[in-house]
Amino acid sequence: MLQINGDNVKSHLLLILCAITLSTAELHKDTQTKKFPDGFLFGASTSAYQIEGAWNVDGKSENIWDHITHKIPCFLSNCDTGDVAANSYYLYKRDVEMMRELGLDFYRFSISWTRILPTSFPDKINEAGKNYYNNLINEMLKYNITPMVTLYHGDLPQKLQQIGGWTNPEVSKWFSDYARVAFELFGDRVKHWFTLNEPKETCNQDYATGFRDLSGIADYLCAKNVLLAHGKAYEVYNNEFRASQNGNVGIVVSVKWYEPETEKEIDAAEDVAIFEWGQFIHPIFSETGDFPKKMKERIAKKSAEQGFPSSRLPNFSPEEVELVRGSADFFGLNHYSTCIAYRNESINGLYESPSYHDDMNVITYTPNDWKSTESASTNVSWGFYKVLTKIRNDYGNPPIYITENGFNSEIGGILDDNRMSYLKSYLNAMLDAISEGSDIRLYSIWSLMDNFEWGTGYKSKYGLYEVNYTSGKFERVPRKSAYFYRNVLKTRVLDINFEPDMSVPICEEN
Ligand code: BGC
Repeated sequence: MLQINGDNVKSHLLLILCAITLSTAELHKDTQTKKFPDGFLFGASTSAYQIEGAWNVDGKSENIWDHITHKIPCFLSNCDTGDVAANSYYLYKRDVEMMRELGLDFYRFSISWTRILPTSFPDKINEAGKNYYNNLINEMLKYNITPMVTLYHGDLPQKLQQIGGWTNPEVSKWFSDYARVAFELFGDRVKHWFTLNEPKETCNQDYATGFRDLSGIADYLCAKNVLLAHGKAYEVYNNEFRASQNGNVGIVVSVKWYEPETEKEIDAAEDVAIFEWGQFIHPIFSETGDFPKKMKERIAKKSAEQGFPSSRLPNFSPEEVELVRGSADFFGLNHYSTCIAYRNESINGLYESPSYHDDMNVITYTPNDWKSTESASTNVSWGFYKVLTKIRNDYGNPPIYITENGFNSEIGGILDDNRMSYLKSYLNAMLDAISEGSDIRLYSIWSLMDNFEWGTGYKSKYGLYEVNYTSGKFERVPRKSAYFYRNVLKTRVLDINFEPDMSVPICEEN
């Protein structure tokens, strides 16, 4: 999703980059091939709004993205919408065929709340929506591909948004009611559930939710409510479904690595990690639960200085702390990139006050040398290794599902060597973390195919398969990286030197 980066590259940056490059070389004592652990699973991820299309078909009602992209016709600069997206509502069989071509163990997709519950509530279940997901799940199971389901991936019902959405304290109940319906309808076959994708992006960065206007207040209300929503859904599963369905439930948090610009900036880098992801990880995965102490203290102090009678960060009651603490069978981790963090006097007055960024009080940026003209993605895999190591050390080595990792290209085409290099380095970094004890159980690439990207529409391409948006048929064509990924899955080995032979059609290789 959106990145909030200052762009002030310092003159001494080269020195630091050299230091980083050195430490990277030390971190990755590459051998040419590395084996994945036995039982390790591979998959690919997508989300409903980004691929399904059929936005107003068969009883589905409007979600926040349908609403905003129609209300403001060129909401994204290129006027793209997810109205048709990759047309997966109609092409799900081809999607499953692609999973088979790749040899995926599992596929992670999301359910559209408004396709299942057009009123937002469980008073009316939309049969057509139910059938769509049943068909998709059953088609996957026919070929032994395990369905893994995200309940919320950015597409809140617009009706709920109109009454405050994620800032309304009732939303945790609405969400857990919706979760109950999904467990009831699909839980006989779905054994891996992700409650919410990227709570931080939902609360702080989502264009469509619009909380940016009340940053420092609305985003914290949202944070509390999404954590409660997650906790309640987990409780519903435990109390009503676990015994009979025997599945597992977790949450997905996006975790960037923040590298201190110099040793002096370690504190700044820690702070940004606490605000950006500790905010959501600490309440669930720490021994004590609740928002991180440093965050609570900082916001309480600033709020008092600003004349607020109490902290802008809402409190959890002791019961709420307990509801959320430990409410996950695994840690779903999305990781895309790394940036540099620092703080100095230039920060004074940089951010509006009060605001989330003013509370966090750190500047982050992506060094120019990491950027390319092709893409907003940077290939900085040592950051992935560091993030995985930190989670292992700070949170008692929880079972980790890598739910997203991927490379964005704005060039497109099927010869995506840069995506392949990115995948090689990130898989390599993940294997390094595993060899040092990180309990990583699975890896899922973003994404199975090109799809609607939140801030940039169809310009950004993340797919192993290219989608043809202009023919009217949405043909999916495997890229070079699809051949590479397929080989990893077939051999269960990462071969740094593997070069795919694209002259053999991917379907015939099976
Ligand atoms: C989101 C995806 C998105 C991807 C690439 C993740 O943060 O979960 O929906 O497409 O990043 O930006």
